[in-house]
Amino acid sequence: TYLSAKAPVFIAPAMDLDMFAHPSTTRNLELLRSYGNHIIEPASGELASHLVGKGRMEEPEVIASVLDRFFDCGMSLAGKHIMITAGPTYEKIDPVRFIGNYSSGKMGYAIAVEAASRGADVTIVSGPVALKAVNPRIKVVDVESAREMLEACERIFPSCDIAIMCAAVADYAPAHPADRKIKREHNDLPVIELVKNPDIAATLGAMKKPGQRLVGFALETDNEMSNALHKLKAKNLNMIVMNSLRDKGAGFRTDTNKVTIYKLDGGELHFDMKSKREVASDIIDTLLSL
Ligand code: PMT
Repeated sequence: TYLSAKAPVFIAPAMDLDMFAHPSTTRNLELLRSYGNHIIEPASGELASHLVGKGRMEEPEVIASVLDRFFDCGMSLAGKHIMITAGPTYEKIDPVRFIGNYSSGKMGYAIAVEAASRGADVTIVSGPVALKAVNPRIKVVDVESAREMLEACERIFPSCDIAIMCAAVADYAPAHPADRKIKREHNDLPVIELVKNPDIAATLGAMKKPGQRLVGFALETDNEMSNALHKLKAKNLNMIVMNSLRDKGAGFRTDTNKVTIYKLDGGELHFDMKSKREVASDIIDTLLSL
């Protein structure tokens, strides 16, 4: 029944401690969560006051209230089409080498899962990542280079209500990628001439129609606020999500992130370090409040 369910699925695990603590249960719950299902279980703080251990089913009235809240506002993105860019871009040097970066796609895919769980139809324009999206509301368009990402975004954005630019796009690409492997026996050190890549977020900012929302990210190492505010304006975004590599546990490859969101009206929201899924939820809540 679960495998063929197209509706949001809620799971309230109920089993004894040995079963609950078994690695296969832990793995399955993590997997189910990453697919956008909702796991309802007692908060750990609450458990301390109960004699019963982990694995205890949440109280039926709590389960009912979670469902009530979900159907009140949970499908707030129903009927909306959201495009999300995710992952790195690879810029070819020769058939075996590229210029890339450390983006894993985790942040972008977490936003996609969160948006789909709120009822949106999501298209991820994805650079090369090891992640899979299995939610039936999420479609993935695979690209490799910044130019390919731009082409896909220009095609998809006109039919979108919202675009969230989470990809780490290479700012430069080799001007003349070699069509054969560059050999080590080269006498001179090879010099790779670079050209500037298009700015995808800024291109969409210039195409944006009234009613469309464009959200950017800013990945910073210094002068976080002024850099983020500059990108917010220069790219004609509605809001920008800043993460800094100065925060341990934030940015590339981690399962957590710490963000500050700057809005066009001058508002700014600072969030604690959280799982990328929770950060995704904060981003969407903020977007809906614009
Ligand atoms: O994928 P993970 O491992 O989970 O890591 C997540 C992340 C760190 C990649 C993500 O949280 C993040 O910060 N993404 C944006 C990275 C980035 O390239 O930031 P930037 O400050 O250089 O770019 C500013 C904005 O312009 C971004 O929205 C970016 O997608 C966009 N951009 C940048 C350059 C370019 N040529 N085209 C663009 O669209």
